Amino acid sequence: MNNNGESDKNIVWHQSTLTKEERQKQHGHKSIMIWFTGLSGSGKSTIANAVQNELYKKNISVYLLDGDNLRHGINSNLSFTAEDRQENIRRAAEIGKLFVDAGVVVLAALISPFEKERMNARAIFKQDEFIEVYVKCSIEECETRDPKGLYKKARKGEIKDFTGIDQPYEEPQNPEIIIDTNKLSIDEAVEILSSYLFDTLELN
Ligand code: PPS
Repeated sequence: MNNNGESDKNIVWHQSTLTKEERQKQHGHKSIMIWFTGLSGSGKSTIANAVQNELYKKNISVYLLDGDNLRHGINSNLSFTAEDRQENIRRAAEIGKLFVDAGVVVLAALISPFEKERMNARAIFKQDEFIEVYVKCSIEECETRDPKGLYKKARKGEIKDFTGIDQPYEEPQNPEIIIDTNKLSIDEAVEILSSYLFDTLELN
């Protein structure tokens, strides 16, 4: 992109006259991305869904982007190779950015196993617009829970490239908050995270 907002592909950025700040004012709160990362079975979707309800109850315009659900539609052409996960995360982050621009609080719950891709996702937001939530849980505990029976299938070789089995999960280096579901119940996790977010969104 050059100084005139033109790219080398002959595409020009059209600046909307309505700003993000005006949209935030209309919604009555800041708009941010809350990015949940963690192993399958760690509890990220369950916690993100419950936190969405808590934010909604406080009259916050909120929307949850769940990795599994995105893979039913916009990301349905993507597999679980490292390359496709990279694209999966890039698209989720870009969609999230549009929501933030629209003045909405967006929750994204994706395994997002690679630090580099999470950093790339973070990089497209302003510093105070991105909150990384590491839903921490040991692989042993996730495998014991195995809510969808996927670990069992992965162990039998029926699913390839399964995170934590034959593909790595890189622990976040600098998440804003860690929710340890080895130790916390879902209710406790939701309470801790909701009050952290109410502070961040200045709703208390
Ligand atoms: S990623 O890594 O961010 O691209 O993954 P994501 O889009 O969040 O999708 C994770 C869900 O896909 C199901 N699933 C798998 N997960 C991990 N590895 C493999 N190979 C795989 N195959 C299918 C699984 O239901 C994940 O959902 P969650 O909610 O994490 O359990």
